[in-house]
Amino acid sequence: MSLTLPEPNEQEQAHSQRLQRRIAEVIDDAGGWISFARYMEMALYEPGLGYYVAGRQKFGAAGDFVTAPEVSSLFSSCLARQCAEVLQQQASAACVLELGAGSGVMAADVLLQLEQLDCLPDHYYILELSAELMARQRATLEEKVPHLVGSVRWLQALDGLQLHGVVLANEVLDAMPVSCFSAYPDRVVERGVTLGQNGFSWQDRTADDELRGRVEVLRRSQDVGPWPSPYHSEINPQLSGWVAMLSEHLAAGLILLIDYGYPRADYYHPQRSEGTLLGYYRQRALEDPFWLPGLQDITASVDFTAVAEAGIEAGLELAGYTTQAWFLMANGLETLYQTALEKADERQRLMLSKQIKLLTLPAEMGERFQVIGFSRGLEAPPQGFLMQDYSQRL
Ligand SMILES: C[S@@+](CC[C@H](N)C(=O)[O-])C[C@H]1O[C@@H](n2cnc3c(N)ncnc32)[C@H](O)[C@@H]1O
Repeated sequence: MSLTLPEPNEQEQAHSQRLQRRIAEVIDDAGGWISFARYMEMALYEPGLGYYVAGRQKFGAAGDFVTAPEVSSLFSSCLARQCAEVLQQQASAACVLELGAGSGVMAADVLLQLEQLDCLPDHYYILELSAELMARQRATLEEKVPHLVGSVRWLQALDGLQLHGVVLANEVLDAMPVSCFSAYPDRVVERGVTLGQNGFSWQDRTADDELRGRVEVLRRSQDVGPWPSPYHSEINPQLSGWVAMLSEHLAAGLILLIDYGYPRADYYHPQRSEGTLLGYYRQRALEDPFWLPGLQDITASVDFTAVAEAGIEAGLELAGYTTQAWFLMANGLETLYQTALEKADERQRLMLSKQIKLLTLPAEMGERFQVIGFSRGLEAPPQGFLMQDYSQRL
């Protein structure tokens, strides 16, 4: 662990130790080894203990990482404009569904903008895995949009829902457990987790046929040269099931998935031979996923080609793929920014200028974050992809 990390307090350390004991039991029960995906699932979502379901503040400047809706309401206002275009086309009661809604700030800002556009949805559904975050979201909405909270419904599963409208997921895919592998010229191993004398550590096992088959497809997708040996990377095994589940519940409308990632050719490029797995703790990136589980977020970038394949396989239409910067601009970012500037004092103008840079500059979130859209039954292509559509890169 880097010495520059802020030291967790006693309570936080005790919390992590409880989770470590729980993971150790599961490793023991499994005969001494679990897949990395199982470890990551427990580190993030183990009931009562995982990073996302327990504990302290994660989002925003005082937390571990800052997401785009936390950077600026301009982000959510642009998303709302895209939602309005789709909501207006729906014949029956139009709704929005947000997955993994974090602090609730995006829901509040999207609703505010939709109200200004006179296009409020019948319901704003939030699918949230964490009871703690649900309470946090309700508090945010009650503070920011008390008059609109009545239309928000929290769900733990989508049973029975047939949505006409828009599905939104910002930075959800990167928080899904991934399987880690190492590829050699003649074999593939799955990287898993074992318990050694100094805590958790990596241990390899021969990959099963399914993982090996998937890795070989990725290896063959490279036409710029062979992978170095060993080549470490990861795959999201839940992705296609999750996208299929969203498709099942979308009667008509648009699904927008926003995250950091790459088309497959860039993700599995020979030069990216250490994969994309990263931890976040108090605004610092960590490379050791075994450091105090429960206190650090663990993420991996998104293979957008795999997302596109999953959507098409699930019977959705690929509506577009572009960078966050282009998507926001195509949804009126500049006009929203100018309007906000007109009402701002000197300090707010400085803040707005900083926010717009963070959201759009290529070296910040502008290019690293990308937006993929899937549609069903829309009259016209969504406006967010009209300025620049990079679908051919997938
Ligand atoms: C990095 S946070 C992003 C939160 C928020 N969307 C934002 O932009 O600030 C990831 C969120 O995804 C949620 N999540 C992960 N897997 C999920 C799934 N399968 N369904 C719904 N939410 C999920 C987590 O619980 C967490 O709230």
